[in-house]
Amino acid sequence: GDKSVNVFVCMGASGDLAKKKIYPVLWNLYKEDLLPTETRIIGYARTKLSLEELLSRCEPFMKIKDGEKAKYAEFIKINSYVAGNYDKAADFKRLDDAIKEIGSCHRLFYLALPPSVYEPVTLNIKATCMATGDKWTRIIIEKPFGRDLDSSEHLSQHLASLFKEEQLYRIDHYLGKEMVQNLVVLRFGNRILSPIWNRDSVSSIVISFKEPIGTQGRGGYFDEFGIIRDVMQNHLLQLLTLVAMEKPPSTKAEDIRNEKVKVLKSIPPIELKDVVLGQYVGNPDGTPDQREGYLDDPTVPKDSVTPTFVTAAMFVKNERWDGVPFILRCGKALNERKAEVRIQFRDVPGDIFAEGKVKRNELVIRVQPNEAVYMKLMTKTPGMSFNCEETELDLTYHSRYSGVSMPEAYERLILDVFNGSQINFVRSDELYEAWRIFTPLLHKIEKEKIKPIPYIFGSRGPKESDEMSAKYDFKYTGEYKWAPQQKL
Ligand code: BG6
Repeated sequence: GDKSVNVFVCMGASGDLAKKKIYPVLWNLYKEDLLPTETRIIGYARTKLSLEELLSRCEPFMKIKDGEKAKYAEFIKINSYVAGNYDKAADFKRLDDAIKEIGSCHRLFYLALPPSVYEPVTLNIKATCMATGDKWTRIIIEKPFGRDLDSSEHLSQHLASLFKEEQLYRIDHYLGKEMVQNLVVLRFGNRILSPIWNRDSVSSIVISFKEPIGTQGRGGYFDEFGIIRDVMQNHLLQLLTLVAMEKPPSTKAEDIRNEKVKVLKSIPPIELKDVVLGQYVGNPDGTPDQREGYLDDPTVPKDSVTPTFVTAAMFVKNERWDGVPFILRCGKALNERKAEVRIQFRDVPGDIFAEGKVKRNELVIRVQPNEAVYMKLMTKTPGMSFNCEETELDLTYHSRYSGVSMPEAYERLILDVFNGSQINFVRSDELYEAWRIFTPLLHKIEKEKIKPIPYIFGSRGPKESDEMSAKYDFKYTGEYKWAPQQKL
């Protein structure tokens, strides 16, 4: 393979994302010998720090075990730190010198930065820090990619003026999750699923993201964006796209990304009538955390109407899905942590069993926690009875694949960048379509200051959300409870 040195530059090395995610992920990859052999890591940020000071901030998140001390000492040796401003060409020249000292290398720049400095930083990288000759340069960026169609297009055009699309790696970390990547295999590797994956058999699809925690000190950031931009427009829409897209001609990045864009193009902008907005309020009987409502967060304006919960019904107007509601719902401060895709099938026609006995089949892809794929189906109640009851075919990962360690989303994605694989990154036209679908709704909510419905911290969210799901042909009885498979 390629024996060149790879330099990973973490811009914003002293910040939160670098400390909690990027450095721990690099350490994990290093300790599992997954990084390319010749890799160097350079942190860059404004704060004057020694390398020791920088790494000691990250160490609490690295979980270094006793037996790993020697390996960690080696890891320190591949690291260095450069302090510099984000808008000073001379500082970037020093960064470039530091890279050149290592040799002629491939360069990865991870922008773990607030979007306000994206422009100066990328301009400076382009002007002073690009690899030369046969060496590549890749740029990794994180959301927010703008806050509506115009601002996102502005950013895209700025980036396109400096870099080629194949140099840009836009992270949506949901694309790095095991069960999200599994969607392509489940859908296109199973003859028993592909013929029923359409409007003839499917009644509705629910894609949910629930968190049992509030905004916890991130209120300032969150209030500017809200749950639609924070989770729905990116993570949930990515899930929808993978569930709904047509079969790509191959598993190559551009073939898959073309199909994703095609399905997005078939989705009209969301209308307010198909949306339920919520904002959590404290639960006086709850845990200390649960007593704090969203508006009690000191970093949130007292009159904020920013939603912390949203359910939206979306439609894919193509031959496969016309009329099938895709119900996306996500929220903070709910009753549980869970992310899943739930495909509900139509009622059995010409039912011969006692009325109401036969429930709809569902295929559930549980993204987290406790990865699983399970199918709800009807069976005869075992024994003398001739009743029917609901049960499940259950593929729970920790039982079926016990001992297999599942890499974290960021680990896969960062390795993908080293390897030059863009399958799990967001292409600019994909981003454009995502904003096209959500921008009119976001503008309307903000212009008209639409009041979200209060819901209690620790609840299922506003009841209006369940009512809307029911209206859109999702049947929920609350009788069935999935229990992760017990080990034998
Ligand atoms: C982030 C959001 O993108 O995803 C957070 O900004 C959210 O608000 C997080 O908590 C959820 O990620 P995960 O991997 O914990 O499901």
